[in-house]
Amino acid sequence: MSVHKNTRKVTTHVLAEMKMRGEKISMLTAYDFSMAKILDEAGIDVILVGDSASNVMAGYDTTLPITLNEMIYFASAVVRGTKRALVVVDMPFGTYQGNSKEALNSAIRIMKETGASAVKLEGGEVVKESIQRILSAGIPVMGHLGLTPQSINKFGTFVVRAREEEEAKALISDAHILDKIGCFSIVLEKIPAALAAKVSKEVRVPIIGIGAGHEVDGQVLVLHDMLGITNEFSPRFLRRYHNLFEEIKSAVTHYIQDVKSVEFPNDKEQY
Ligand code: KIV
Repeated sequence: MSVHKNTRKVTTHVLAEMKMRGEKISMLTAYDFSMAKILDEAGIDVILVGDSASNVMAGYDTTLPITLNEMIYFASAVVRGTKRALVVVDMPFGTYQGNSKEALNSAIRIMKETGASAVKLEGGEVVKESIQRILSAGIPVMGHLGLTPQSINKFGTFVVRAREEEEAKALISDAHILDKIGCFSIVLEKIPAALAAKVSKEVRVPIIGIGAGHEVDGQVLVLHDMLGITNEFSPRFLRRYHNLFEEIKSAVTHYIQDVKSVEFPNDKEQY
């Protein structure tokens, strides 16, 4: 019997059960009430209020500028649109690194002010103390390893991570640390598929991949990318399910023409 189909509310325990049964986990990002409602009604398992909001909602080049207040605003809208999916909120850059007390305060604000069910943060060993402190308050934490966009200034590029043995070993070790200290799931971004498969087999918690192949426990994509609302970003791992940029543009062009030519509103569309 499918865990996905029989779940009224997705919890971290449901995801663990899905991994145990070999049932894949679906996850997408959302940043507003209306989109969250559509994703939830479609049956998505996890909605991530990603700090990719910094790119797709606010138009910045990186995820670094978005603030905790802005993430809270987006996340509370998503929670209002969600009944079934587990809502996870990204902790923005600068709210958890290097100071575990600040990390806990940031996570508590997210939980209290949004009603979400978990937080996500980037890194392994280096943020272990922050994660442990957040977990000690009963807040579920999702990890994120591989290409971690908040460290883009250190990496210098968005190329595939952990191709070299040393980095791959460090990633495996970090995944084990996150698993052991109690993260409920880990996102692996843009790493070789074979490495992701190995991690997924070795650790107990569900591994959600993005550009990490199919031998993991679930997949995540940025909603605006998979719907084709963004049109300049085309990494190999991205499957576009729609071309909404062109469709919306065409609808708006049509509307402009109708307004200019007084085709809209017609007699039936007025009082
Ligand atoms: O911010 C985000 O959207 C993410 C996903 C790419 C996993 O972290």
